[in-house]
Amino acid sequence: MSAPSTVLVTGGAGFIGSHTCVNLLDHGYELIVVDDYSNSTPQVFSRVERIAGRFAGAVYELDIRDRHALSAVFARHTVDAVVHLAAAKSASRSMMTPVEYYDANVGGTTALLQTMHEHGVHRLIFSSTSSVYGHAGPGPLGEATPTHPTSPYAATKSACEQILTDVCRRRPEYTVLCLRYFNPAGAHPSGLLGEDPRAAPENLIPSLAQVAIGHRDRLQVFGTDYPTRDGTTVRDYTHVMDTVEAHRFALDHLADAPGMHVFNVGTGRGSSVLDVVTAFSRACGHPIPVEAAPGRPGDVAEVVADATRAARAWGWRATRNLDDICRDAWRFQQLNPRGYDSSSRRPEKKN
Ligand SMILES: NC(=O)c1ccc[n+]([C@@H]2O[C@H](COP(=O)([O-])OP(=O)(O)OC[C@H]3O[C@@H](n4cnc5c(N)ncnc54)[C@H](O)[C@@H]3O)[C@@H](O)[C@H]2O)c1
Repeated sequence: MSAPSTVLVTGGAGFIGSHTCVNLLDHGYELIVVDDYSNSTPQVFSRVERIAGRFAGAVYELDIRDRHALSAVFARHTVDAVVHLAAAKSASRSMMTPVEYYDANVGGTTALLQTMHEHGVHRLIFSSTSSVYGHAGPGPLGEATPTHPTSPYAATKSACEQILTDVCRRRPEYTVLCLRYFNPAGAHPSGLLGEDPRAAPENLIPSLAQVAIGHRDRLQVFGTDYPTRDGTTVRDYTHVMDTVEAHRFALDHLADAPGMHVFNVGTGRGSSVLDVVTAFSRACGHPIPVEAAPGRPGDVAEVVADATRAARAWGWRATRNLDDICRDAWRFQQLNPRGYDSSSRRPEKKN
């Protein structure tokens, strides 16, 4: 089976999706993008085009649960493979609205699978998350580590993984490469693309960037008595450019073996919240005020990848470090103080 040349990207306007589009365009792929802009803006595509020097393909505004609209896209294009990124991704919001999260993430994935099946498309790269491991740490987490999701969000991703496993067991024509991302962060080095969620950011690095630029007074450090070296949570921050590069390696290896295959996408290095604050202060050139706050429900002490499987199978390894992440996130924040919408009267994001 030949390597895919036309790839449909769901959620292609989002943080990881927009960087994925640039990477795939740089490597000669044709793209079809679908996104409902529930957490993004179509303005991102002019930036994708500016960086990549071209935009080969088409963009459709639709909710992937709208099977009729999705099917029309598959009918119009010959799709070789799908990179499925569209999802609602806030663990804390999922605690308040679990049904919406199951509907968006599990409903979105089943609608996509049914539509792919109708159109004879059987190759999929699925965005999963290290949060499926839950309280499994400390120590590097290999793909065989039992999963224990601690939030409805993580449970929706685990449920999707189970669905995809079942599909692959019963339908030998399917190949699914499931990528469990470990804290993607940073931005495109040009400063044109970065993380610009619609609501106030919950992830550490965009929150730090907002404090550094003065949109927030201080960073709240959620939990200071975890059993880690400085009491704050430890995560495996992976530069988004490395994360998206893993998709291209995965696309190159879709023909290796049918079935469902899970890969961690992380660096294998853990950094505490205080390590990241120090690195970000270095990047922006001034200290960042912090205040201790209670730990958040569902948060776990340490989540660090054993990233050897992707290295062995594909030769993929993260090549950027925490200083690269902070430098690029800070550049994006400086060049886009109010995100992509910097020109319009967007309400300030507050703590
Ligand atoms: N960013 C992270 O820290 C992280 C970590 C682990 C896993 N992931 C997963 O990676 C994927 C991408 O994450 P991201 O950080 O780019 O998030 P994001 O919110 O920036 O991007 C998701 C995109 O999907 C779109 N979308 C959401 N629901 C949709 C729907 N029903 N139909 C069409 N479009 C829809 C949003 O508008 C957005 O553009 C998600 O599946 C997320 O769960 C992200």
